Amino acid sequence: MANRVSQRVAREMGGGAVKTWSEVIALGKLPGVTDLGQGWPDIPSSMVARTKASDVLLKGGVGPEVKLNQYSPIGGMPDLKEAIVDFNKKRYGRTLDPNKNVIVTSSGTEAIFASVQALCDPGDEVVIFEPFFPWYLPCIRLAGGIPKVVSLEPPQFKIDPAKLRAAFSPKTKLIIFNSPHNPTSHCATAEELELIGSLCIEFDSLALYDEVYETVVFNGGKHLRLSDVDGMADRTLTISSAGKVFNLTGWRIGWMTGPEDLISGCRAICGYTTFSAPTPLQEGIAAALREEPDTFYSNVASEFEGNFNLLAAALTKMGIEVCAADGQIGGYFLVADVSSTGKTDLEFCKWIATEKGVAAVPLTVFYAPKPEGWKCHLVRFAICKKRPTIIEACAKLTAGLTGGGSGSSVAVEAHAVAAGAGADAGAGAGAGAGVGAAVADQSQSQVATPTSPIAHNPHPSEDRPASATPSWWG
Ligand SMILES: Cc1ncc(COP(=O)(O)O)c(C=O)c1O
Repeated sequence: MANRVSQRVAREMGGGAVKTWSEVIALGKLPGVTDLGQGWPDIPSSMVARTKASDVLLKGGVGPEVKLNQYSPIGGMPDLKEAIVDFNKKRYGRTLDPNKNVIVTSSGTEAIFASVQALCDPGDEVVIFEPFFPWYLPCIRLAGGIPKVVSLEPPQFKIDPAKLRAAFSPKTKLIIFNSPHNPTSHCATAEELELIGSLCIEFDSLALYDEVYETVVFNGGKHLRLSDVDGMADRTLTISSAGKVFNLTGWRIGWMTGPEDLISGCRAICGYTTFSAPTPLQEGIAAALREEPDTFYSNVASEFEGNFNLLAAALTKMGIEVCAADGQIGGYFLVADVSSTGKTDLEFCKWIATEKGVAAVPLTVFYAPKPEGWKCHLVRFAICKKRPTIIEACAKLTAGLTGGGSGSSVAVEAHAVAAGAGADAGAGAGAGAGVGAAVADQSQSQVATPTSPIAHNPHPSEDRPASATPSWWG
């Protein structure tokens, strides 16, 4: 038999997102490398969620609670669906019916797959913005959809209204939009959401709003939602991830909210794939949604904002441009334009991993296939890390540099010292203090101390074996 694997699937196996992502994971695990590649948080995860889930794991299984270690209903545990409804009401003022407007999924990733399968017929066009979360493209193609890619240009990564309008046609079934954005940190503006909404209504299209980083908006800013735009509540499926909200990316719990008919379609697909998400973990997330205080979310957001600022200053010191919208930003990532180094994104990632001991991700993987000769100079750094991880990375990146790209080097050192004092508090109650102290106390920016963690490189490149080069660099 020539094609034992279907051609449809074989086309997605030759490389693409899954392959590159496994390579990126390997890169971050090389000995001595500080992993700012994959977007997993190394800060403390929700204790409420962990306590409740372990309780259920141990106690559920016998007697009246025997069901708590068994299948949950397709679409999720009633308890978690209620908690999602309450969370939506409290944070966004939206009233939802737990049985009609909510579905629990096995991760945000499953929610993307299920929703695209549920909404798209072969030949339907799906508008996405580039750079994009790499899973969108295979999910669209596996459903037989035709991706229509709209590019967002650095350094601001804002939507160009003319380009977006040109991508819509009578065949447009769906648009996928992500805010806060992976990888660019851009957060949707009211104008952008209104523009998307008006095009969806004009072309009678649906929308998938991927807000997995909804709680990580910097500087106390507000997360704006597409479903709040006039006429869009009935056209929008919104995706959330408990992994991102509670720093539990290994739990693989997510959810979707939206109109009843679309949620029903997604429930069918999830029923045929995973059937239901792990019951004890759903109970843990339900407890976290109900019991974690607002400061849980705001502390994480301010920790990552401080990380963004520290890393931005270190990259600036290297003479590298940091790309960020001049409006609201947030999320797990920072994108830098490494053109000034004369390297492509891939070359740069290889170089900083081997020479500096820091892993990052080449932005090429966030773009649709490009013609021969196309070159990318953008690189993504994960900032969803505890402060010492970021300080270590900054120290490695700036080791041996004396000048400052924009005179920021002293500030980086002072930030690092001040932040380091509060760093071990992680995302718990004290986490904001280290960040606040680092960012707020400008007087400290005059003090460069020899004990600064920036002052020496704890992992010189000689410590890493030459064999540490992963195969995909080729
Ligand atoms: C934009 C975006 N959407 C969805 C996901 C998937 O989330 P989950 O980890 O819950 O599968 C990610 C994960 O990195 C993401 O960055």
